[in-house]
Amino acid sequence: MPEAISQDSVAAPLPIAHGWYLALYADELPPGGVQSLEYVGRKLVIFRTEDGQAALADAHCPHLGAHLGVGGKVIGSALRCPFHGWEWDYRGHCHSIPYSKVIPPSARLRMYPVVERNGAVWFWYHPKGTPPEFEVPVIPEWGSADYGVQWDRHTWSIRAHPQDILENGIDFPHVMTVHGFDAPSNVVSSFEGPLYRWGADTGKEIELLDKRRENFSFRVDTWGLGLSQVHYHGLFSVIFQIGQTPVDATMTRMSFSVLTRESDRADPQIAAALRRYVADNVRTLEQDFPIWANKVYREQPLLCAADGPIHAFRRWAAQFYERAV
Ligand code: FES
Ligand SMILES: [Fe+2]
Repeated sequence: MPEAISQDSVAAPLPIAHGWYLALYADELPPGGVQSLEYVGRKLVIFRTEDGQAALADAHCPHLGAHLGVGGKVIGSALRCPFHGWEWDYRGHCHSIPYSKVIPPSARLRMYPVVERNGAVWFWYHPKGTPPEFEVPVIPEWGSADYGVQWDRHTWSIRAHPQDILENGIDFPHVMTVHGFDAPSNVVSSFEGPLYRWGADTGKEIELLDKRRENFSFRVDTWGLGLSQVHYHGLFSVIFQIGQTPVDATMTRMSFSVLTRESDRADPQIAAALRRYVADNVRTLEQDFPIWANKVYREQPLLCAADGPIHAFRRWAAQFYERAV
């Protein structure tokens, strides 16, 4: 008799979660800029008004369906459609039709709440269009005198779901097999509403002249499935801002941004160690990609006592999906 295929061994994608997602870095969108984006399974357009307000909308004009990102132009505080010239302001209201004095009262472009924070433009996605349930937290160091305003950027499109990528963080045993590290020690984790926080200590060989072994501690704050902020402190300090924006239910655009201190970069030895450390982190991330791209999502995984808190993590993640009614 053929073996039954169990339901959970099929690569059934998780749906797209609601949350804040990184649209682009703020400096990629100058005043008057217009760009097409494809995220959350939709065609989108992002623009910045002449006085600096960023806005994100569904790409297709409610009139006769032109793509606003292909030939659309910012005029003052509005985006002018390339097809018949209707103008949509940053709140999605039509404020001008060049050949009609009367604007249909139902003329609305679907907009997504947008916030500009920590050098990026974030948008709130909810399949039902409900308003944000939490905020994008400020990274106080970003823009400070010592850290400055320059993110070192690494971006990938990965065949993976944001939930699988995050689950990797608390899947402690995989660091030995995939990355060849010792498992982290003093791991703490907590789940508070939309915030999942965890941290650990790691001993790491730092290649200074004296080959010292430096103890680092790090703390990861993850808000929803799209946004993580990581603080590392040890011989030097590093902040990572990680955006995980679903292209659709199977692909994720990952933006891994690195912020370092001027005072660390000013010391040649520390700066060299810092560069190696960041390069190591990037390489470590990339080691996970083939696993994520080819794994299935096991709804009922077979776990052992020494695995990380997979079930607690999944109970937390479940709040970002619409429940079937
Ligand atoms: S399709 Fe946009 S104005 Fe007609
Ligand atoms: Fe990993």
